[in-house]
Amino acid sequence: MRMPVIAGNWKLFKTIGESVALVNELKPLVANNKGVEVVVAPVFTALSRVSDAIAGSNIKLAAQDCFWEEEGAFTGEVAPGLLKDAGCSHVIIGHSERRQYFGETDLTVNKKAKAAIAAGLSAIVCVGELLAERESNQTFSVIETQIKGSLAGLTADDFAKIVIAYEPVWAIGTGKTASDAQAQEVHIFIRQLIARLFNQSVADAVRILYGGSVKPDNVKGLMAQPDIDGALVGGASLKAEPFAAIAAFNV
Ligand code: PGA
Repeated sequence: MRMPVIAGNWKLFKTIGESVALVNELKPLVANNKGVEVVVAPVFTALSRVSDAIAGSNIKLAAQDCFWEEEGAFTGEVAPGLLKDAGCSHVIIGHSERRQYFGETDLTVNKKAKAAIAAGLSAIVCVGELLAERESNQTFSVIETQIKGSLAGLTADDFAKIVIAYEPVWAIGTGKTASDAQAQEVHIFIRQLIARLFNQSVADAVRILYGGSVKPDNVKGLMAQPDIDGALVGGASLKAEPFAAIAAFNV
């Protein structure tokens, strides 16, 4: 069985103090959640303090990006090993906002995913089609290209540290969720592709999260789909109550 993951992507929101306050509010709300991995992804500057705040709780820490080198003359970058040092167990890689605004490509996503795994982090690798691509029936080919490029050269063992997030770009921050069936058909497509590219047991084990306007009132329908193993949540993760309600989809 695949352990579901509910991850909150806080994007460029919250000071250190606000981030610590949010996890302190969240901790008791998710303390009794069974059978779900709860992850939060604050901004870089808050990671270390949030790590201290969640020590001993069942909340895990993710960064929102990383570089692919461990050290060197790379002004402004943050290495996977440093994220580990700050208390992260996870890192989000290739979020559509990074692809859209910061020139992230499947090649850079691939390098980052490999570096994250080498540092012992779990990589939450994001893929998703634009509205124009969906409307011109290119969803599956776009997803196939992104999956092949982003996960190129990984071994079956590496997949223990891979989580995939399917986030249709037109559903992110728009209030427009993919329908349960629209999400499921892409999730099963991704799982069958992983089976072809790697092997069936890797495909059966890999968690595939849905992201894009996930809210307390739509999470149950999404999570009831056989190939949806969790959610990557943006807007609704910025407050403790809706995020805790999403993380309690199974109660
Ligand atoms: P949203 O963001 O939940 O605000 O749509 C999802 C994401 O970008 O991961």
